[in-house]
Amino acid sequence: MKIILLVSTILVIVHCNPLTEEWLSFKAKYGKNYEDPNEDQRRMEIFSKTMEYINNHNQKYLDDRVSFTMGINEFADLTDEEFEKFYLGKAQNSSNSDEEDIGTHNPPESLDGLPDSVDWRSEGCVTPVKYQGQCGSYWTFSTIGAVEGQNYRKTGRLVSLSEQNLLDCSSNIWYGNNGCNGGYMFRSYKYIKKNGIDTEESYPYDGKVIKCRFNNETIGANITGYIRVKKDSQYALQDAVANVGPVAVGLEVYKSFRYYNGGVYYDAQCGTSLQNHAALVVGYGTEEDGKDYWLVKNSWGTHWGLDGYIKMIRNFPTSCGILVDATYPTM
Ligand SMILES: *[C@@H]1O[C@H](CO)[C@@H](O)[C@H](O)[C@H]1NC(C)=O
Ligand SMILES: *[C@@H]1O[C@H](CO)[C@@H](O)[C@H](O)[C@H]1NC(C)=O
Ligand SMILES: *[C@@H]1O[C@H](CO)[C@@H](O)[C@H](O)[C@H]1NC(C)=O
Repeated sequence: MKIILLVSTILVIVHCNPLTEEWLSFKAKYGKNYEDPNEDQRRMEIFSKTMEYINNHNQKYLDDRVSFTMGINEFADLTDEEFEKFYLGKAQNSSNSDEEDIGTHNPPESLDGLPDSVDWRSEGCVTPVKYQGQCGSYWTFSTIGAVEGQNYRKTGRLVSLSEQNLLDCSSNIWYGNNGCNGGYMFRSYKYIKKNGIDTEESYPYDGKVIKCRFNNETIGANITGYIRVKKDSQYALQDAVANVGPVAVGLEVYKSFRYYNGGVYYDAQCGTSLQNHAALVVGYGTEEDGKDYWLVKNSWGTHWGLDGYIKMIRNFPTSCGILVDATYPTM
């Protein structure tokens, strides 16, 4: 009897502690399991700080002081250092020129002909959101997304292409990418121009550099080069997205980006000179409250953001370097 009472008292205590409840459901939702009780405790403390950070931010949203909301996601029990190490690249200089450049996409003479909003997903030109895992391979997803889009526009077929092919085969001295520590889209186009790129199906994602297993019999697309969208030009990017298709963009992201889950993202802390992430602009539009945004496909799975997407502020001086390294391939 005593034992039963004791057990039920403990259960009541456990259940009445909201943090414990949240922690248990977080772990269940994201399949996290810490066998060492000390580690579990440490992770719960990080998680608790994250909840506080997010709640403070969302209170600011309610007070109309920020334009986006945040939510708990799978990153919530990682330290900032771990997150940067696992998911972002080593901050690298934003690339804005290269001898392989074959052309520049300039802004249009007038904005008259451009639609108010574009969403390439509705044209069937964008593959489902992918998941990079604990590897700073965002540059492969950004490049591949742009190639998938142009391949669709050229052939009418949406073929999912292989990030792993780029990760394995362009992370070397010839192409200069840096595997899970980051890379550049222009170097990736250089690889694809020379070799072609395998299909996702034939060369699936592993999330770490293994060895180059490119097979020229399972190529899903070839490119002839790439175009760089004129740097720092909102209108050049808008024109490219409207008239060409999805555009690969380098980004410089901060902590708030990590927990984004709605609204139009803007963080004054975002710079433009370094690059630790990259993604794919698949459209643009304007919210009901008048905020212009870029619709951006990320590679952190569908639990992140708006089903894997983020709306980033547009027609604004700075949006985490989105106008610095924007490119698309030619076919
Ligand atoms: C970026 O470029 C500047 C000037 O070219 C150089 O001094 C600096 O070391 C570079 N930084 C990184 C992180 O590559
Ligand atoms: C494909 O690869 C094989 C083996 O490396 C090679 O012999 C062949 O020439 C290649 N085909 C093309 C079209 O590049
Ligand atoms: C890509 O180029 C190679 C070599 O020229 C060719 O064999 C292959 O059929 C092309 N594949 C596609 C999908 O265009």
